[in-house]
Amino acid sequence: MRKNENSRSGKTLFVCSGCGSQFPKWVGQCPDCQAWNTLSESLSVGKASRNPRFDGYAGDANQNRIQVLSDVSTEVRSSTPTGISELDRVLGGGLVTGSVILIGGDPGIGKSTLLIQTLATLSGAIPALYVSGEESPEQISLRARRLGLPGERLGLLAETCVERILALVRTDPPALMVVDSIQTLYTEQLQSAPGSVAQVREAAAQLVRFAKQRGTIVFLVGHVTKEGALAGPRVLEHMVDTVLYFEGESGSQLRLVRTIKNRFGAVNELGVFAMTDKGLREVSNPSAIFLSRHDQEVSGSVVLVTREGSRPLLVEVQALVDDSPLSNPRRITLGLEQNRLSMLLAVLHRHCGIAMYDQDVYVNVVGGVRITETAADLVVLLAVLSSFRDRNLPRDLVAFGEVGLAGEIRPIPNGQERLREAAKHGFRRAIVPKANQPKQKIKGLEVTGVERLSDVLDTF
Ligand code: TYD
Ligand code: MG
Repeated sequence: MRKNENSRSGKTLFVCSGCGSQFPKWVGQCPDCQAWNTLSESLSVGKASRNPRFDGYAGDANQNRIQVLSDVSTEVRSSTPTGISELDRVLGGGLVTGSVILIGGDPGIGKSTLLIQTLATLSGAIPALYVSGEESPEQISLRARRLGLPGERLGLLAETCVERILALVRTDPPALMVVDSIQTLYTEQLQSAPGSVAQVREAAAQLVRFAKQRGTIVFLVGHVTKEGALAGPRVLEHMVDTVLYFEGESGSQLRLVRTIKNRFGAVNELGVFAMTDKGLREVSNPSAIFLSRHDQEVSGSVVLVTREGSRPLLVEVQALVDDSPLSNPRRITLGLEQNRLSMLLAVLHRHCGIAMYDQDVYVNVVGGVRITETAADLVVLLAVLSSFRDRNLPRDLVAFGEVGLAGEIRPIPNGQERLREAAKHGFRRAIVPKANQPKQKIKGLEVTGVERLSDVLDTF
């Protein structure tokens, strides 16, 4: 369906994502910039178009005027808690009227489950609607019943045409609407297949416009594929107010929801859930769930006190260093950035003289958590060294700290809070940047402050 047959009086055109040139017909190679496969279908913004392309909230063009910042009324935005506190945490307190929230994640990770739970819980208080393009009303109802959710006041709609959805809800807009998933929707204005970038973008744009005009809170579900080849939710991130992503290992019960973008709150906040046979359950005190419990001391394992979002989490980092049969040894990371590991190994070689050019190095963060902060640097190196030397580190040791290219250990934010959390969970020793050493002693915790990476080598 690439060709623009029967295009209604030139409403659609094809735009090159590389150079922005526009063409009436699809071609494989852009005649202007010579790039291949960059043309995608789009709506033209000619004067005939009564439905301008929309990527943000522009207001009503006819009644628009310039306002003074301090005069703009802000009262209209009220925030409704969802009743699921881990979800409220990632949303920045609750659901804001007229906001659009994108929930992304791998297929089968729990997006529909979380949303049907949220919707059913809230439907008692506010009018709610679940629009599904993936499951039939019977399937949704079956799942809701199995989860023991109240369904008396929750609207259901199985529909994939965005114009028809909006026509149905326009007369009596719900306060909360879930669209599952955005990839199954299509707009009649474009001829390309549902799931293509143009369709996803245009369908979402119409929903965003509706949300802003009517004050409906809209959840959009988006699948991310591993390859990212499919028109994923990434193209929508700039249009919506909040972007949440599901993380977690398929083998584990834990599901993490991370805030990637939030116009109403902090980003990088983490909500923790566990998938059970009764749906997703909140884990409201998750600080120690990412520790794998060994009975004995093992080499290559160190506990990091990370601070993802606004609370500390204890996470175990494991490393395995092994003789490599390859001329180009492996550097594999799970839950951490791979380039960062290569950089840390270079620092270790340059400033401590420990070479790993003939070793494969694997680093894994237990529990499927993804660590984005640099506080993990010191822990990664401790774990790598412990495995390399095959020397165990004490089980009651925690660490954190950033490692600089000059071999220095840099302080990180909220050191005190992290140390207190570690002490609370029974850890007795900590290796931290010197500047993070607490002024007052923390009860039961022996803290070693280090300034240079070479200081750490002597600790075990
Ligand atoms: P789902 O929410 O349908 O995933 P998504 O919408 O992100 O594609 O979740 C489906 C998975 O969750 C499926 O593998 C089964 C599991 N699951 C449970 O373990 N317990 C439950 O109560 C439910 C509803 C699902
Ligand atoms: Mg689903």
